[in-house]
Amino acid sequence: MTIKCTNKVALIGTGFVGSSYAFALLNQGIAHELVLIDMNKDKADGDARDLNHGLAFASPMKIHAGDYSDCQDADLVVITAGANQKPGETRLDLVEKNIKIFKGIVDEVMASGFNGIFLVATNPVDILTYATWKFSGLPKERVIGSGTILDTARLRYLVGEHFDIDTRNIHAYIMGEHGDTEFPVWSHTTIGASHLSELIDMGNEDIQKKLDEIFLNVRDAAYHIIERKGATYYGIAMGLARITRAIFNNENSILTVSSLLQGEYGQDDVYIGVPAIINREGVRKVVELPLNEKELQQFEHSSETLKKVMETAFS
Ligand code: LAC
Repeated sequence: MTIKCTNKVALIGTGFVGSSYAFALLNQGIAHELVLIDMNKDKADGDARDLNHGLAFASPMKIHAGDYSDCQDADLVVITAGANQKPGETRLDLVEKNIKIFKGIVDEVMASGFNGIFLVATNPVDILTYATWKFSGLPKERVIGSGTILDTARLRYLVGEHFDIDTRNIHAYIMGEHGDTEFPVWSHTTIGASHLSELIDMGNEDIQKKLDEIFLNVRDAAYHIIERKGATYYGIAMGLARITRAIFNNENSILTVSSLLQGEYGQDDVYIGVPAIINREGVRKVVELPLNEKELQQFEHSSETLKKVMETAFS
């Protein structure tokens, strides 16, 4: 008799990001079952075998390679499959080839009878999450993109390094496109319970220069890593695991994921990185921060940039 394990993940794509995410799930004991799906069936099966050999050091987890039919009773389908950035490529350059790939993937998943939550990581993640929402017909709250969760983590790390404070005590957000038009929300940044502006003179030119330098290192981090090792995968995998944990543990945590806006921040019909409350139902609610004038303009620019690309991509 097979007992339905709760917290079943179907992972589509076992490349660098997908296999790193699978490794993170195993190490953090987040899921009870993981099925690995990839066009390269040997790779998926090899990853499953390799991961199973770590079970003696982790919590019980059913890990196996499979196919789209295994999505039928999955609670969460995570998509990491698709082409990734090559040196010098922007994320938006990938849109055409990856939308075609996604149409095929989402149709196959939905044909299995899947009725859970989609979590999308493939770039350009905001546009591909919108595509997944459109192609699947699932309610917006159950189609989530990794959004700026990794960018926010990069910002928290670099601000923590600057102040020599544990990253976990740095509360700061990157919002907007997961890409070149993202922006930092300095107006809502705190270190512990202290607002950033209580600790530094935000008007001081040198300090502003340092903050700008930190942000540019966040925004361009992926390019620097891709130049050095060809791809990024550990950071995004940890971000995907964090979102998975918030869903499976019904946490109601606030994470900067790619969510559909329908009027929030004055924007409509666009998936974009915003703070959102995440629980077992997916996106419970988008958190609307009172952004300052400059941040609102940056948000609008980011949203318009995504919409412009979507106009051609979905024409
Ligand atoms: C990065 C990829 C996930 O920012 O877009 O590393």
